[in-house]
Amino acid sequence: MSGGAVASSDELPFTPAELAEIEAEARAGLEAAAGLGALAEAERQALGKRSRFSLLYQQLGRLSPERRKEAGQRLHQLRRRLEDLVEERRHLLLEAERLARLEADRLDLTEVLPGELAGHLHLVTLVTERLEDVFVGMGYEIAEGPELETDWYNFQALNIGVDHPARASTDTFFVDVEGEDGADYLLRTHTSPVQVHLLERGRLPIYAVAPGLVYRRDTADATHLPGFHQIEGLAVDHCITMGDLAGTIESFVHALFGSEVSTRLRPGYFPFTEPSAEFEISCQICGGEGCRTCSMTGWIELGGCGMVHPNVLLATGVDPEEWSGFAFGFGVDRLATMRHGIADLRSFVENDIRFLSQF
Ligand code: PHE
Repeated sequence: MSGGAVASSDELPFTPAELAEIEAEARAGLEAAAGLGALAEAERQALGKRSRFSLLYQQLGRLSPERRKEAGQRLHQLRRRLEDLVEERRHLLLEAERLARLEADRLDLTEVLPGELAGHLHLVTLVTERLEDVFVGMGYEIAEGPELETDWYNFQALNIGVDHPARASTDTFFVDVEGEDGADYLLRTHTSPVQVHLLERGRLPIYAVAPGLVYRRDTADATHLPGFHQIEGLAVDHCITMGDLAGTIESFVHALFGSEVSTRLRPGYFPFTEPSAEFEISCQICGGEGCRTCSMTGWIELGGCGMVHPNVLLATGVDPEEWSGFAFGFGVDRLATMRHGIADLRSFVENDIRFLSQF
């Protein structure tokens, strides 16, 4: 290489004005890009192999080391500025696309078209409220208990010993929280622990019903849900008898279904009542003639009941010599299916508006 050639080729391959022009052009392209695809294209035009920018880069090789360094730095800084702009634009466009997608997917749950259905309470809630009304009419208070219970309330205080099959982990959802008291926590498997809370209060006599959710490790099918509703009843007073229990059950069944419906008690077993019974109503589908729903018996089992076991009273500090009581508990969802001829319990949780709007 001759000295002259070196001298003439050692000028910067661009003037500051040229560089500014390249930058302005690239910026305009990047800023005009209205989508991620267009941005990628503008980036290619600004910095890609065929861009004016790259052509300048390619000329660095023929500069003297000093010149190369100076020109290289300027080009490098320009590249950095343009790349930062690309990133910034990409960010904005991504966010805009995300918002657009959200807007497109939006479901307005408050929207009610004129003449169309406005929301209403769920059938199970309606039936629960009806039951509450009936019991309030009979002088009962409405009570409530927690869904997260300890072993003591759900089992022990109810005379369910450590070896009782009802405790099997196959039936119960145990919850992995450690209470301050070291107690085992679980999701209540029935509303009967509310009996214990009521008795512990120590205010007697008691006439109370307690509706609420209960949980069991069942797979959902036509007759089971892993979470379902029960209503518990408890009456504790002087001289309460099994006759009072039978009369109370008959009264509320008549109030709910009409006086042509019959009720009956059959011997049963629950650790927390003695004697215990299952109570049944005449089948509402066939009128007691016998059909598939009632397995040809003419009767449908609604729930369990009995006289409060003295051990439950003792566990809660109530004197069984002075007080006696009855308790009952039954499935509200089951009752609702009976009352409305619903074949499958799962319809209650599927949220199909065509089903829900019928009630
Ligand atoms: N807790 C019982 C159950 O879930 C029902 C019941 C309540 C039985 C009260 C007797 C007394 O099956």
